[in-house]
Amino acid sequence: MFLPADGDNELVADSIAQAKHRRPVLLDVPHREPQLGDGDLDLAPHNACPPEVDVERGLVPAEGHVGRYVLDLTVATPHLRGEVVDLGLLPLANLLYEHPPLCCCPGQGGDHQQRGQEDRGCQPPHKPSQKGMAHPVLRLTINCSGAMLTLLAGGLSVRDERPIHYRIFGMAKELEREGKPVIHMEFGDPYVEVDPEIVHSMCMSALSGHTHYSQPAGLDEFRERLAEHVNKRFSTSFSPSNVVVTPGSKIAGYLAIRALARPGEKIALVSPIWGVYYALLREAGVEAVDIRTSFESGWVPDEEAVHEAVERGVKAIIVNNPNNPTSVVLSREVVRAVAEIAGERGVYVIADEVYLDFPRGGFYSFLETGYENVVALYSFSKSYAMTGFRLGYAVADERVISEMTRLLQLYFTNVPEFIQHAGMRALEMPWVVERVTRTMWGRTDFLASELRRLGFEFVYPQGAFYVFAKVPSPWRSGAEFCEALIREKYVSPAPGEGFGGYSGFVRFSATAGIEVLREAVERIRSFLEEHGG
Ligand SMILES: Cc1ncc(COP(=O)(O)O)c(C=O)c1O
Repeated sequence: MFLPADGDNELVADSIAQAKHRRPVLLDVPHREPQLGDGDLDLAPHNACPPEVDVERGLVPAEGHVGRYVLDLTVATPHLRGEVVDLGLLPLANLLYEHPPLCCCPGQGGDHQQRGQEDRGCQPPHKPSQKGMAHPVLRLTINCSGAMLTLLAGGLSVRDERPIHYRIFGMAKELEREGKPVIHMEFGDPYVEVDPEIVHSMCMSALSGHTHYSQPAGLDEFRERLAEHVNKRFSTSFSPSNVVVTPGSKIAGYLAIRALARPGEKIALVSPIWGVYYALLREAGVEAVDIRTSFESGWVPDEEAVHEAVERGVKAIIVNNPNNPTSVVLSREVVRAVAEIAGERGVYVIADEVYLDFPRGGFYSFLETGYENVVALYSFSKSYAMTGFRLGYAVADERVISEMTRLLQLYFTNVPEFIQHAGMRALEMPWVVERVTRTMWGRTDFLASELRRLGFEFVYPQGAFYVFAKVPSPWRSGAEFCEALIREKYVSPAPGEGFGGYSGFVRFSATAGIEVLREAVERIRSFLEEHGG
């Protein structure tokens, strides 16, 4: 479905085409190696758009420029095309796209000028060029409103907006392919065998025919057990209608964001935080409002900063407690204070509590505050080491759960029944949680004490299996440190840049077994020595 620009809008299309003469619209992701630091690449928020078309970023003007725009993008990767199409545009029917691409044009180099001229009168479909690599062109026709600008920006920001540690993981994998003995410390996958009984129950479920479409929110029986599980733990009174089962808690987080905020609205997050949240917010076209904390304050949020965020009209605050990357556990008082401040304006708290089983001392959940506007996120990935099962759930009021379920059905249909049966079996085996947490405490203590011996500074991990340490000199940033460590010693931690721009820090995951961690520490020691540390 393609609508040619008409009337006044032709002018706008024209100005875009002219802008193209000066700056070609070429999304260049695949033509360059992923760079450390790319995670910081950010698009200007749509409402801060410059008045003229910023072709490179694909932004079109904001206020007062409602109308139809035509924008041709040279899409050098199907990945981008997929992202644009999958961006969650379905509910916003005023973005029309032609898919598959309209025409193929030559790639980079001197062709741009010529391509820009062609574009002015470009009528689809064009024949693929004979010259060089063909890059498909995706023509977007945009009926432009504020919301649309956000979407467009979101679409183009997929240049490479994965959290930086995903790309570090890519580099590490590349070195592994070259046969290098890489030690992964950048991911949060506890390397503990999934209990065979859980695997067995999944197989039995599949073999007995639980292999069809199912209820989008999750099996009634499973939701009932999950509600009971939560109620028993936190003395709450949730019913199955307060629970939605999701393909991992990451998706629960995304669905919560989508349920609570529209494109162009704001959500705050207490950082540092698992960096995926920034990407999820961008995907949803939602502006991130950072509530920053500091090493000096023990990574505990300042009440005043939470107040300020709430006053900025945010729709929700994302709090990850226990925290990834700092492993800090917030006290009951702090949790209550955040809930209270949110309550002053009825702002939701999205409480990511996937590490709830790891604190060595107590853990106080946002669900225990009695505050009603809480969406709590949980996972089977950490407590049961079931990362590959992709199983999580959210607990919230019925209105939010039903909106999350609507979106889940649209995108994912449902979590497979045999996976849910595995989850049900896991709930009956609390000793598995005990085993996983004890194993992870042992590893975390080992890593933390060894890193301390090497001179690293950090807040001692209290409730997750990460050490978030200051970058030692002479390195100037987490990205620089990580890049050098991977290239020289094949040890791959995650730079602090990926957790909300904390470039002075680096996160080490204690997910591997002790022997692997010992080897990692040895390599880090020799790395520091070779660099005069
Ligand atoms: C804080 C946090 N939330 C959510 C997730 C996602 O977990 P899941 O595997 O349930 O999607 C992670 C994974 O590392 C995490 O660290």
